[in-house]
Amino acid sequence: MAWPYANGPLHLGHVAGAYLPADIFARYHRMAGNRVLMVSGSDQHGTPVTVRADNEGVAPQEIVDRFHPQFLELWEKLGITFDLFTTTGTQTHAEVVHDMFRRLLERGDIYRQTTQQFFDPQAGRFLPDRYVEGTCPHCGFERARGDQCDNCGRTLDPGQLVNPRSKLTGTTPDMRDTEHFFFRLSRFQEPLLEWLRGRSGWRKHVQNFSIGWVEEGLHDRAITRDLDWGVSVPVEDLGPGKRIYVWFEAFIGYLSASKEWAEREGEPEAWRAWWEDADAGTYYFIGKDNIFFHTIFWPAVLIAYGGLNLPTDVPANQYVTFKGEKASKSQAVGDSALSYLERYQADAIRYALAANLPEQSDTDMTEAEIVRRNNDELVATWGNLVNRVLAMTHRTFEGRVPQPGPLDRRDEAVLDGARTVVHQVGQLIEAVHLKAALATAMGFAQEVNGYLSEREPWKTAKSDRERTATSLYVALCAITALDVALYPFLPFSSELVYRSLGLPGSIDETGWRASRPASGTALGPAEPLFRKIETAEGKARLSA
Ligand code: MF3
Ligand code: ZN
Repeated sequence: MAWPYANGPLHLGHVAGAYLPADIFARYHRMAGNRVLMVSGSDQHGTPVTVRADNEGVAPQEIVDRFHPQFLELWEKLGITFDLFTTTGTQTHAEVVHDMFRRLLERGDIYRQTTQQFFDPQAGRFLPDRYVEGTCPHCGFERARGDQCDNCGRTLDPGQLVNPRSKLTGTTPDMRDTEHFFFRLSRFQEPLLEWLRGRSGWRKHVQNFSIGWVEEGLHDRAITRDLDWGVSVPVEDLGPGKRIYVWFEAFIGYLSASKEWAEREGEPEAWRAWWEDADAGTYYFIGKDNIFFHTIFWPAVLIAYGGLNLPTDVPANQYVTFKGEKASKSQAVGDSALSYLERYQADAIRYALAANLPEQSDTDMTEAEIVRRNNDELVATWGNLVNRVLAMTHRTFEGRVPQPGPLDRRDEAVLDGARTVVHQVGQLIEAVHLKAALATAMGFAQEVNGYLSEREPWKTAKSDRERTATSLYVALCAITALDVALYPFLPFSSELVYRSLGLPGSIDETGWRASRPASGTALGPAEPLFRKIETAEGKARLSA
């Protein structure tokens, strides 16, 4: 999944856009018995990092060294389970990029050409990408950057910006000749169109956006820049002061991180299972501003290189905004994701974000919504179901899973539901309909709450012990199944529930199925599993 620029803290918008969906998907597949390799890393090159370094008067590496550890801390606290989260600054990455560059050069898919670039006469420097801002020619956004407009998602070529201004000095730059390498993207127009049209199961907005882009005609793209921070150009032709364009090397990170992972595992060839086996699936979890690079540019590079799997799916998300503004790292909107983790449990955040995933359209969120979803849904529906069934079982049956009596049709229906929900949630996750998967699980939790309200085991406990045993047994079966179905979304609390159920080992070893707890099994000690967020705390934060 997308490689975050190591130029600032991550926000919940990034988490919801890419990392959480990827983790939900990976956790499900691991549990379903598939081999998963989930890799990414800090995107440490290019002007996003150097602009910040310039502003602070420090070396770019210092910026990377500040933010990369914060990313790792966030994954740890939020339970985002990368197999490897590296950086684009490794030796392996440079080697893999060089290898790809050389092969494409040999094949004629990379060529040299003199081009025009913005030049700041006052600073005496070329102004690649983010060193220049101006008005987007497509949508009129006034803070579009040299290489991309954050508002409409279009990539830009130098010279397309209206009213350009230098970020270094504020002056209007002029255009000067400079020599660069280009990738012959235009050559891949037809194969890409055919490939994109043939994808099934992709999100419509991703597929249509990509097809539309290719149909407009693909242009060759400069893949080097006048910079001294980045992966070096593996041939001497351009002379000093040139680096590979950050976007051309960052996506190669998926491959180089897989190779680095394999080396670290002591099985240097193990990456091939994901990149060369035809039956391996490759999923790229990204935000919509990265679609072009993952559905067009990267696939073209993969086709050009040959022998490597193209993306199976690119389930790009739209934006999550907080109070109407895109939670964007570059424009410093909103609090960092880590700061939310100081206030809320990881699962509360995961839940609120997962329930709101911008899979089809932009969604707006507020901190109040995290509180509300935690209290009114997570705690009130799922937490309440678990807490009261466990408490009643402790009270009435000495903390052991009771032996059920005869099952009536209502009991059978709930037991059926437990089997079905695990299957359905799995199917939805496989299709990357993650929001629907969560809603399905929560819907069933609500149904089980309804079942308990009808059966009233707290009332029958005195009058009809067998009926009570059956009701609690059925509810415990449903909870065991729901715990599996919710695990990809709520890994921390699912593990606690799992232990409270007295089940052996840990939840991620159970497999993706609805097993039934055996009668007589001793439950774990009753623990408070879910925490309601005090409204005062929520309110205080909201007015702050
Ligand atoms: N660093 C880019 C961003 O934050 C994403 C790079 S994704 C990759 O928008 F695939 F190119 F690595
Ligand atoms: Zn635009």
